[in-house]
Amino acid sequence: MSSFPWVTDLVKDVPLINPSILAADFAHLEDEIRKVEAAGVKILHLDIMDGHFVPNLSIGTPVVEAVRRISALPLDVHLMLSEPWKYVKPFRKAGADMITVHIEVLEDPRPLLDEIRSLGAAAGLAHNPPTPFEKIAPFINDCELILTMSVMPGFGGQSFNPSVLEKVRAIRATASPEMLLSIDGGINLQTISEAARSGCNVFVAGTAVFGAKNYTEQMIQLRKNATNLCAN
Ligand code: DX5
Ligand code: ZN
Repeated sequence: MSSFPWVTDLVKDVPLINPSILAADFAHLEDEIRKVEAAGVKILHLDIMDGHFVPNLSIGTPVVEAVRRISALPLDVHLMLSEPWKYVKPFRKAGADMITVHIEVLEDPRPLLDEIRSLGAAAGLAHNPPTPFEKIAPFINDCELILTMSVMPGFGGQSFNPSVLEKVRAIRATASPEMLLSIDGGINLQTISEAARSGCNVFVAGTAVFGAKNYTEQMIQLRKNATNLCAN
């Protein structure tokens, strides 16, 4: 059981669709968030990019703060940053409930995962498609969430890379049952089933949610396509 009661509650609700606001209409961000809240979403994904770890820039603490002011949903903040240790405190202060950092920039991720938790946020560890399972394996049970990237991070709307599912299966076999195993990139009505079958239980979806005509119907369908396939 996680030391964060809200994480324990989330685990009871898997499969979870985790909308990435990167694909939302930023000119109407509050309306966009209200629509996914109305669709019954349990968590929100916020992508933070530094133009260095990834070849793109996105949002920073002011937007996280703004989202925090208008929504009570747990905020899952994905730091795609070369120097995440400089930013965990500011993002926690801005309202992040979960902070995910990339293993590619951390020789030993434990101290930073511990720092995130000591700040009162749940900790996540992300890995890119080329990063081998062996790199992530020693730390799987040192955090609340493992985030498998199914695209090279940096942009929404890319195609799902199914070769990462082998790593997901290995992670599932190593992780305790209450771990959140998330996947990010190219999730749609088809790929969500493959990912669920391999053991994922949290599905980050940008384009598939915010590009849909009816968010509620799309989220019901996505969840349905993942249900009963989450290999625990
Ligand atoms: C990619 C980001 C993702 C992205 C997913 O770098 O980490 O969260 O927004 O977008 P879709 O679902 O459109 O692939
Ligand atoms: Zn992300």
